[in-house]
Amino acid sequence: MCKALVAGNWKMHGTTGSAVSLASQLNQDWAQNNAAEMIIFPPFVHISAVRSVIGEGAISIGAQNISQYSDGAYTGEVSAEMLLDQGCKYVLVGHSERRAVMGESDQMVAKKFKVAQDSGLTPILCVGESLKQRQQGETVAVVSAQIDAVIELVGLSNVCRAVIAYEPVWAIGTGETASPQQAQQVHHAIRAQLGEAGRSTTLLYGGSVKASNAAELFAQPDINGGLVGGASLEADEFLNIAKLIEA
Ligand code: PGA
Repeated sequence: MCKALVAGNWKMHGTTGSAVSLASQLNQDWAQNNAAEMIIFPPFVHISAVRSVIGEGAISIGAQNISQYSDGAYTGEVSAEMLLDQGCKYVLVGHSERRAVMGESDQMVAKKFKVAQDSGLTPILCVGESLKQRQQGETVAVVSAQIDAVIELVGLSNVCRAVIAYEPVWAIGTGETASPQQAQQVHHAIRAQLGEAGRSTTLLYGGSVKASNAAELFAQPDINGGLVGGASLEADEFLNIAKLIEA
């Protein structure tokens, strides 16, 4: 069975104070017996403070990025070992903002995925098409090529052990969401690409998820939860989204 997850990507927002306050509000409300596992992704510099608030409780911590290198003279990079040391269990790889703004290639994303998984972190591989690619009918081809690049490096079974988040680039931070049917269509294609081994792989949808549109998205057969950006910065809204996920 696919594990149900709800992930909050805080991106480059907040201060130590606001991060601690948000984490403690979530922590007060979220219990271990909820249907989904909740993961929050604070900026690197807030991870330690957030961790001291949520402890070993019901909420897991992830990082928004990871170095493709394991150790050494790589100024400004953060390694898998450092993330584990900070209590992280998950890491986002291939987020569209890193692909588009920071120029991360499919190959670099694959290396980051491998480093993360080899160290014991669970990578959440983000994939998705631009508006132009969707308009040209290339959505499934783009998404499957992004996944293939990782399969090539680590093999299908290792990709199936991770989490994949489908996030259409045109729906991220724009207020525009893929319709539940559009999202399901791509999720279904991803599930088909993974084959038998991917039947229990957790597939998340991301892109302007809000409490008002989450129920319909999460009701789709191949959607096992959400990767939430903007709406995860407000405790009540994020909790309302999280509670819509059924195991
Ligand atoms: P959004 O971001 O919910 O603000 O669209 C989602 C994401 O980037 O993961």
